[in-house]
Amino acid sequence: MDSVELEKRSAAEAAVKNHYPANAKWVGIGSGTTIVFVVEAIKKLEIDTSLTKFVPTGYQSKQLILSAGLTAVEFDSLPEGVVLDVAFDGADEVDDNLNCIKGGGACLFQEKLVVLQAKEFICVADSRKLKPRLLTAWKAIPIEVAPIAVYRVLRELKKLGSIDPTIRTNTIAKAGPLKTDQGFFIIDAPFPPLRLPSEMIPLTDGTRPADAWDVETLSKTIKEIPGVLEVGIFSGVTGPQAQAAGGIGGQKPV
Ligand code: 5RP
Repeated sequence: MDSVELEKRSAAEAAVKNHYPANAKWVGIGSGTTIVFVVEAIKKLEIDTSLTKFVPTGYQSKQLILSAGLTAVEFDSLPEGVVLDVAFDGADEVDDNLNCIKGGGACLFQEKLVVLQAKEFICVADSRKLKPRLLTAWKAIPIEVAPIAVYRVLRELKKLGSIDPTIRTNTIAKAGPLKTDQGFFIIDAPFPPLRLPSEMIPLTDGTRPADAWDVETLSKTIKEIPGVLEVGIFSGVTGPQAQAAGGIGGQKPV
């Protein structure tokens, strides 16, 4: 195992050791390669998980849960009112304020659904992914888009300043656009590194500099384009319980 994989494993072990709630009933499980180590670490806890339900964020995640011998309950089968005790997931990049870019594995829509349904989002990331600003090393924002709207969304993204946004191709089948678990497409939209809202200095006429976006405004602006299902910026994500409790909880990188 190379040093990156070892780091992912140790981050996952620390995340589970410090944040897996005793007697957890509902646990969100994200997607990607780091989350494999999270499930491995949960198994190593040697606790009784027979009454725990694990909520996947896509096909890969569900297979991971089942192959570990755990019980999977899909998001659309959650009983009304259930709040997940915790959701673990990876990220492609994490900034100093714990905003994340997600969607490198094309699962961002279900990942956001699950995270927003949890008391706490534990983001498990190795040191390569920690950057002062999003879009420092990871250059493009993954955006899930309805196929019928994809060319219109590409044009709108260019108007917002994205340089050469592209439709992600299916590299495994080597044919056509990649399709998500929803049957949608992913656009990867490059933007310059994103600022925090507090770092934005408006121009003297009160407008935003053309080449500068903050994480929250850009995320909301892209989400409003018709045809966009979800944006791979996870900013200030807190679950329903956390908000009810006055903002306690939220994202924690490990
Ligand atoms: C999938 C994701 C993943 O969490 C993200 O891409 C990180 O993956 P990995 O752990 O393999 O680096 O958002 O859509």
